[in-house]
Amino acid sequence: MGTDMNNLCTERPDVGKLLKTKLGKLEMNSPLAVASGTFDLESLEFFDPACLGAFVSKTITKEPKKGNPPPRLYETEAGLINSIGLQNPGLEVFINEKLPMYRDKLSMPLIVSFSGSSISEFCAMMEALENCAGIAGYEINVSCPNVENEGIAFGTDPLVLYNLVQNLAKISQKELCVKLSPNVSDIAEIARATEAAGATSLALINSLWGMAIDYRSGQSRIKKGIGGYTGIGIKPVALALTYKVAQAIDIPILAMGGIYDWQDALEFIWAGASAIALGTANFINPLAAPELIIGLGEYLLTEQKAIQDLVGRVRI
Ligand SMILES: Cc1cc2nc3c(=O)[nH]c(=O)nc-3n(C[C@H](O)[C@H](O)[C@H](O)COP(=O)(O)O)c2cc1C
Repeated sequence: MGTDMNNLCTERPDVGKLLKTKLGKLEMNSPLAVASGTFDLESLEFFDPACLGAFVSKTITKEPKKGNPPPRLYETEAGLINSIGLQNPGLEVFINEKLPMYRDKLSMPLIVSFSGSSISEFCAMMEALENCAGIAGYEINVSCPNVENEGIAFGTDPLVLYNLVQNLAKISQKELCVKLSPNVSDIAEIARATEAAGATSLALINSLWGMAIDYRSGQSRIKKGIGGYTGIGIKPVALALTYKVAQAIDIPILAMGGIYDWQDALEFIWAGASAIALGTANFINPLAAPELIIGLGEYLLTEQKAIQDLVGRVRI
């Protein structure tokens, strides 16, 4: 098959059919998505975008956010700590300026990630987005560790989350994916509440809490002290939580957390993910996405298996 950048999903029907998957209501030509906040349109210039089965946009909030003060990124020996703080241009600019660009450039389904500070704000945002063309679904961010009183307050309490998701499910018939936090004591309970409220898929995991300190000076590497930890070091945690959630619910999982290559992706699929996303890996290797799909495609072709044959089939 070779490792050129030709797209397996569109140019090799024998591989393309093995790579197809479903995330709730979304038919995906590839099981690979990009994790919110780690990838934007300019990154698509490096490869054929058709290897992505879905595009998840950076989380937006109703009002613009400047984000947290720098330093807000630190590379540890095993992953990244970030404290971006949901920097974004706000809903109005997103709808008027970003969305038309996405409509123009993206051939795969667009999932819009958003967060709010009250149930009514979440609902108002979804209502505004429902009036826009070109959106295939939503990722509800209730799990950002880098902002206070936003999202995360909803993601840690099953009852509050149930109420939020139930209200959102009444507004839209599109894909309703809820992004869960790993920073909870019982993620299975949260996942069950989300499913019962009407979510059609779950995304996990968002960043863990993380901190780094210069041992010589005692200076925190991140201005706010604690940030969100992502990348290679969180993979075993993300894998365990994917497995735990997959055991607890029936709706599909979009899994992420330390996925760098096709072997990582396969591990998450065995654990119970119907689709996977690349996050921190996008900063390290701009070709991580096509390389992952080529490797996964070769594996599936050799084994004569489709993604759906492997989801959740881990041997314990
Ligand atoms: C710089 C950076 C910005 C991020 N911004 C967002 C965001 O806006 N919304 C969100 O839901 N997750 C955000 N995340 C979390 C990722 O989407 C993903 O859940 C997390 O990084 C775990 O995946 P990874 O280990 O592959 O990076 C961000 C992560 C990083 C590193």
